[in-house]
Amino acid sequence: MDIRFNEKDKLFVIETDSTSYVIAVLGEEGLLGHLYYGDKIQYEDAPYLLNIPQNQNTPTPAMRDRSSFLDIYPFEYTSNNVGDYRKSGIEITDSNGHSSLQLCYESHAIYLGKEKLEGLPATFGTDKDSMTLEIAVKDSVVGLRAVLYYSIFEGLDAVIRSVKLINDSDKEIFIDKVMSMTMDMDQDGYQLLTLYGSWARERLMDFRDIGFGDTSIESFRGESSHQFQPFMALVQNGDSQDTGKVYGFSFVYSGNFEAGVNKSQFDNLRVYMGIGSKNFRWKLRPYDSFQAPEVVLTYSGAGLGKMTRTLHDLYRNHLIRSRYKDMERPILINNWEATYFDFDSDKLLAIAKEAKKSGIEMLVMDDGWFGERNDDNSSLGDWYVNEDKLKGGLKKLVDEVNAIGMKFGIWMEPEMISPRSRLYDEHPDWAIRVPDREPCRSRNQYVLDITREEVRDYIYSRIKAILESCNIEYLKWDMNRQLSDLGSMGLSRDAQGELSHRYMLAVYDLQERLVTDFPNLLLENCSGGGARFDAGMLYYSPQIWCSDDTDAIERLKIQEGTALIFPLSTMGAHVSDCPNHTVGRTTPFKTRGDVALAGTFGYELDITRIPESDREDIPRQVAQYHKYNHLVRGGDYYRIASYQRNHSFDAYMLVSKDKKEALVTYVQVEASPNPARKVIKLPGLVPDATYQIEDSDIEVKGSTLEKVGIALPILPGDYQSKLIHLLQKNS
Ligand code: DGJ
Repeated sequence: MDIRFNEKDKLFVIETDSTSYVIAVLGEEGLLGHLYYGDKIQYEDAPYLLNIPQNQNTPTPAMRDRSSFLDIYPFEYTSNNVGDYRKSGIEITDSNGHSSLQLCYESHAIYLGKEKLEGLPATFGTDKDSMTLEIAVKDSVVGLRAVLYYSIFEGLDAVIRSVKLINDSDKEIFIDKVMSMTMDMDQDGYQLLTLYGSWARERLMDFRDIGFGDTSIESFRGESSHQFQPFMALVQNGDSQDTGKVYGFSFVYSGNFEAGVNKSQFDNLRVYMGIGSKNFRWKLRPYDSFQAPEVVLTYSGAGLGKMTRTLHDLYRNHLIRSRYKDMERPILINNWEATYFDFDSDKLLAIAKEAKKSGIEMLVMDDGWFGERNDDNSSLGDWYVNEDKLKGGLKKLVDEVNAIGMKFGIWMEPEMISPRSRLYDEHPDWAIRVPDREPCRSRNQYVLDITREEVRDYIYSRIKAILESCNIEYLKWDMNRQLSDLGSMGLSRDAQGELSHRYMLAVYDLQERLVTDFPNLLLENCSGGGARFDAGMLYYSPQIWCSDDTDAIERLKIQEGTALIFPLSTMGAHVSDCPNHTVGRTTPFKTRGDVALAGTFGYELDITRIPESDREDIPRQVAQYHKYNHLVRGGDYYRIASYQRNHSFDAYMLVSKDKKEALVTYVQVEASPNPARKVIKLPGLVPDATYQIEDSDIEVKGSTLEKVGIALPILPGDYQSKLIHLLQKNS
């Protein structure tokens, strides 16, 4: 890990273990050129990159044919309306109503460590394990300065980029768009990989060709969304796990975003990622600044697998702060699919008692315990216990659950207000809405305008009061609708375009208060399933509910897409009852347990009513969780086969960091008659070490497992699963 400035040739060279990233300061004007990002090259050879003709033209002081240069040269960050006709990463309106912007080098700094981003989630590091480059570029006509940040971490092939805009003038400047990064590069046979979805089928993988013009994704729903994950990758060899170049881009932000690739007339690409510019307009007051969220860039010269493992390590070690990240999470049982709104304390206690017998460790009471909430048509905002359901109150129930020997967790949806609620009767103006318009209802609820401090303070006071009222050790923070009718009574006419981003800052502020005041609370974020499963939220909660689809087979696809970026220990995954409530499928209880094992693991069923044989199997699943959870939390993840693409079976493997142990999960989704043999290769082991396959007398070298592989068993029927545990001999 190193960042150096070559004074003579005016080059910045950022080096990670196996990548180089090179930026040039060009000509007298000091435009910033993007020279290289990819496999590591010798530092001494960085000036050679200047000899690779980037185009036929050079920036000339005579200004002749200037656009021929600006419109083709690979820039490090874009300008606007000055002769580069490609898509801009930044758009502003200055105090004269003009939009031209040309950012030129002003100064730079290189230092150990990494600064926090005020009010935003961000990766973190110390002086010992991280380094940062700041390059200040400026348009002196407008008086706008942009500071481009680049941080790297020891042992990780990732570059973290963000942008801060500073108004150095005494006039207002409107920011109409600000991408956190842009990067110009050659098209070298890349396809675009993104994760798309919907409710109950989040983060499915989509590969598409990059055509001329724009190939992009976005969310303007006020959250990262079910529909697109704020992530994309340029991949050379499709889904290959170990060949081809891969550039990954993951946004550490949970609100509106846009990201994509713009292919120019000369076949080259401009990659961009940042806050969504639709409905966005930020008034940057004189001498004020605006910090855009950060983007994690990863480069792998060896397929998707390396990108995934880099992101897992980065997020585990430099993004998730919770003390739970390195701990086994309590195995929980959640009553949502067990009872929906139809429960009382007797029912919950019955579930807790039965769960305790099987080794389950925590009861989570989901939606429906407050106000008059007997369905989803009312009471959001009325965070007062419904004593018709919880007889004797919340503390009594929690004490009784604790007395059984179980922990207690609770569900809340703090950002919402039901039109049928006491809170709405008192404060109809607290909903996000446009005056004189009836806002769009979704799940019969509105979104609270938490950008207003009094609203935020009120909601936080209610969360705090509930959490302090008894021994609550876990909170599921849900969000079940997306933003619309953007209008805030708290913002002036010319600041309405700030609402969506301010909303996200308000969510972050609330969760920051929460994790500061309750450091021992296990927080799980959730949004109608997995609509806010993003890197931003992981800064606050070590786990996020992955999807409302708990069907083991659908989960194979959802968890594959999620694990492409996020560590397995962050994926909320539960065993539920069958027929599955979302897709109606019946799968073996064992398979449900094996698939949920790849996440946080828990149950979402009425344990007092499931078949006896399933109930009897729970202690075995619990023991399995304790046996393998260290691999799920800390191991290296290898995707071996994808049901999403082969429509037949799924396989993935976890290898401990010391490579002494590995676990393969195999799910035979479809049985076939008289099948061909299936052999899967197992990478990531020590080539010379001997591994014993547990419950067999097979002993074989790591290199043979990698080159030849193991034969998968033929299992009796559809939806069957098998775990294969390998242990290094004499270790
Ligand atoms: C959506 C969540 O994803 C579910 O798990 C459940 O908590 C419901 N909301 C409750 O309304």
